[in-house]
Amino acid sequence: MIKISPSILASKDRIESIKKLNNTNADYLHIDTMDGLFVPNTQMPLEEILELEKHSKLPLDIHLMVEDPEKYINYLENKNIEYITIHIEIDKDIDYLINKIKSLNYKVGLSIKPNTEVSKLIPYLDKIDLVLIMSVEPGFGGQEFMPDSLEKAKYLRNINKDIILEIDGGIKDTNIDEVKKHVDIAVVGSYITNSTDYNEAINKLKN
Ligand code: DX5
Ligand code: ZN
Repeated sequence: MIKISPSILASKDRIESIKKLNNTNADYLHIDTMDGLFVPNTQMPLEEILELEKHSKLPLDIHLMVEDPEKYINYLENKNIEYITIHIEIDKDIDYLINKIKSLNYKVGLSIKPNTEVSKLIPYLDKIDLVLIMSVEPGFGGQEFMPDSLEKAKYLRNINKDIILEIDGGIKDTNIDEVKKHVDIAVVGSYITNSTDYNEAINKLKN
């Protein structure tokens, strides 16, 4: 069954949303951290991640849309975190960062933007747990799903049967059936946080 990682990026009251999500069938809590450099938006700085983590019963799935992930990773020791995902496009030593995340005993994800060539991931596939495929241009919630992103999922699944595939952006009831065929985890933001009943929305996506 597909796992759902709700994104609270667009929620008006993130702590309130977390409290609601704690009592749903969601699998993780997706945290979107943006530094205003890697993407043209600033969201969920380190202090907020630490605050939100305290309220969450769901393991965190942290998506670092930042140029310098080490600044964050260093302060995330001993938390309820499942995945820390960094972007392949940053101008940093990716191997070093992968090992840094592993040293804290978290699973490692690498994310790829819509216009980045999927083959860039190949040298890292044996060293990471998950690939996070962006199905929108990262930076904002509520955008339209880019169907081409599923081609990346098919390509990656073909060359690596074990890697966990996650997709992020524009996912809702109308495209989940197609998404499900190709990925293991769907990040879902506005479809859930705009709904009146979070668990009903999540169950609709899962079933
Ligand atoms: C976009 C973020 C997403 C976003 C998803 O940069 O990475 O996680 O919050 O929101 P929706 O589902 O509304 O596209
Ligand atoms: Zn995200």
